[in-house]
Amino acid sequence: MRIFGMAGKRTVSVLLAGLAVMGGLTSCHRADGNEGPAAKENDGANWPLYGRTFSANHYSPLREINSSNISRLKLAWSMDLEDAGSLYTSPVEVNGVLYFAQGYSVIHAVDAQTGKLLWTYDPDVPKVAGKRMRTAWGSRGIAYWDGAIYAGTLDGRLIAIGAADGKLRWSVHTNEGPDDGRYITGAPWVFKGKVVIGHGGADFDLVRGYVTAYDAKTGKQLWRFYTVPGDPKKGFEDDAQARAAKTWTGEWWKYGGGGTVWNAMAYDPKYNRLYIGTGNGTPWNRHIRSPGGGDNLYLCSIVALDADTGKYVWHYQVNPGETWDYNAAMDIELATLKIDGSDRSVLMHAPKNGFFYVIDRADGKLISAKNFVPANWAKGIDIATGRPIENPEARFPDGKGFMMSPSSAGGHNAQPMSYSPQTGLVYIPAQENGMWYSDAGVDLKHWKALHGTGYNTGLGSEPPPGPPPPTRSMLLAWNPLTQKAVWSSPLPALWGGGVTSTGGNLVFIGNADGKFDAHDATTGKILWSFDTQSGISSQPITYTVAGRQYLTVLAGYRGIVQASPWDYYTQKRRVLTFTLDGKAPPLPAPVPAPPKEFVADPGFVVDAAKAKAGLGIYVGANCFNCHGFNLQAGGMAPDLRASSVPTSLETFTQVVHDGLLVENGMPQFAELTPEQIDDLRHYIRQTTRAAIAGKTADTAQAVRQ
Ligand code: HEC
Repeated sequence: MRIFGMAGKRTVSVLLAGLAVMGGLTSCHRADGNEGPAAKENDGANWPLYGRTFSANHYSPLREINSSNISRLKLAWSMDLEDAGSLYTSPVEVNGVLYFAQGYSVIHAVDAQTGKLLWTYDPDVPKVAGKRMRTAWGSRGIAYWDGAIYAGTLDGRLIAIGAADGKLRWSVHTNEGPDDGRYITGAPWVFKGKVVIGHGGADFDLVRGYVTAYDAKTGKQLWRFYTVPGDPKKGFEDDAQARAAKTWTGEWWKYGGGGTVWNAMAYDPKYNRLYIGTGNGTPWNRHIRSPGGGDNLYLCSIVALDADTGKYVWHYQVNPGETWDYNAAMDIELATLKIDGSDRSVLMHAPKNGFFYVIDRADGKLISAKNFVPANWAKGIDIATGRPIENPEARFPDGKGFMMSPSSAGGHNAQPMSYSPQTGLVYIPAQENGMWYSDAGVDLKHWKALHGTGYNTGLGSEPPPGPPPPTRSMLLAWNPLTQKAVWSSPLPALWGGGVTSTGGNLVFIGNADGKFDAHDATTGKILWSFDTQSGISSQPITYTVAGRQYLTVLAGYRGIVQASPWDYYTQKRRVLTFTLDGKAPPLPAPVPAPPKEFVADPGFVVDAAKAKAGLGIYVGANCFNCHGFNLQAGGMAPDLRASSVPTSLETFTQVVHDGLLVENGMPQFAELTPEQIDDLRHYIRQTTRAAIAGKTADTAQAVRQ
């Protein structure tokens, strides 16, 4: 029986703290208008930000490793991490030190040449978050700026840590109050001595989206921009809010509104602007939150803000009147493209709705747009107005349902795409998929929100008339000038990691099956592949140390509500660094994991009514968000069907109610009564026995309201 899981794993904290000597770029090294390595688009030595540099292209000009010598790319070192936290996160590198945030934002610093751990910093998220720790996502990325590492946490903190010593410099709460449903999973964006962070939460609670800028040295708040208008009776913060309010109807502010900036931004030194990408509305269904229609600004939009003041400059709304959990939170990548003979400063964007957008950064006007995956919600985008030519059926009017493509998972999601100025192509980790939208049977007037307990969709649970189109994943090379695919290479259907392209005519991507591949950037052919032995959900980075090019990828899988073959306990979590003629010994052959044995516990008598109540708690307490729908775990937390903990009421109570495993990322649910704890046991046993008998119930339906 495995009660203590990976207990004892956090022993490396502060180990060797202070030994890192390479950390800080001192201010005298800062060139390029005082912007440091983040501004060095043409110098691939470092990878200081999520998308490497301000252009956020996830591209490096380095070419020592290239399509002619890629067969010599070998492992330089690898490091197995003992911590069980997820690695859905992008590392950064500056001056020979790699930094990354594992799991609940535990920051690691590692010597990039040798793989030696220099320090770790643990912000103790499960302890600090307490009741609010209801999601499983860790941090997708961090930032380096002038000797400090910046990271967000699930409980809404933004922290700054000394890059050389791993010591906390400052920490601020970015939430508006202790019961705030906002959480941070995205990377901070840093420029001109400011650090800007958004947040998530629009699916799980009634939140009003915003981004906040802080002074990078002190953590002092500089400005905040709200992405949706608040209650008009309280007065609007600025004109942009007043204008936006005209595009909402009903009492939208009671629902928070949503529009969270949970993922992408981009800083544009040319115009001194910050572009933010906003998410979906709360609830998803516009019939509820804005019953008289309206565009609902600034949902699902790219908004340009003055980088110094946070004041509105322009916006481009990708989906006016968003109602499907569509988002403009996917990458915003900056480039100069030659269009009709002249150089245009553009941004490129491939959001969930399946269209690829090229937008003029000067004024936010649409230059071109074309779908890169099947998209039946719109016939196209009208270039003159910038608005989609929608299929009216896609709005599921009058209780009529619609099988829509792409689904809420999107034709492209948070896994970064990469633009290579060398080939002029954008490499998109894309997906074809579909989903049934219907609010038949939903009482739109009296709809009640869930607070942190499941998804606020407002879509109801009408079963689809047939299965959705099959999900297919592919790496797509897209020409932003012709708006056409140049090549496409199939990927495993489960989500993998993001993309990095290089000046060596290479495109790197790590996949859900554990294969880390290099494609020829021009033809798409796989030129090199390495089996990391663990599903990859992160994106690689490349940089030089002492004049030599290195490539790092993190392997470790974090499926959440998707079942995956990667088990929480047995999967490897690894940092792998490659270089030409690397000399590390090959990875040890994987030890096949013993087959998962589901626990039948034949003596336990399931009470169907208690099991039903237990399902409600499993959903309501967000157990599903970490342990999976129908207890089908995806690698982020243990598979409870194979756990013997629930067979003992005493141990189960210690784990769930008393917080025995909080240190290991299992939150404490002190608010659950002994009866509710027992109900959970009945649900777990019933579902496990059904799985043993080859049947699955559908928790997925129960979590949507
Ligand atoms: C934020 C993510 C998260 C949520 C929410 C969550 N868990 Fe967990 N749970 C974990 C993690 C991670 C572990 C593994 C901890 C370890 O390594 O020991 C775990 C472990 C457990 C274990 C012990 C398994 C074993 O065999 O050691 C049980 C039982 C459990 N969780 C039940 C629940 C129940 C019931 C709920 C909802 C009331 C819940 N969990 C909600 C993340 C979560």
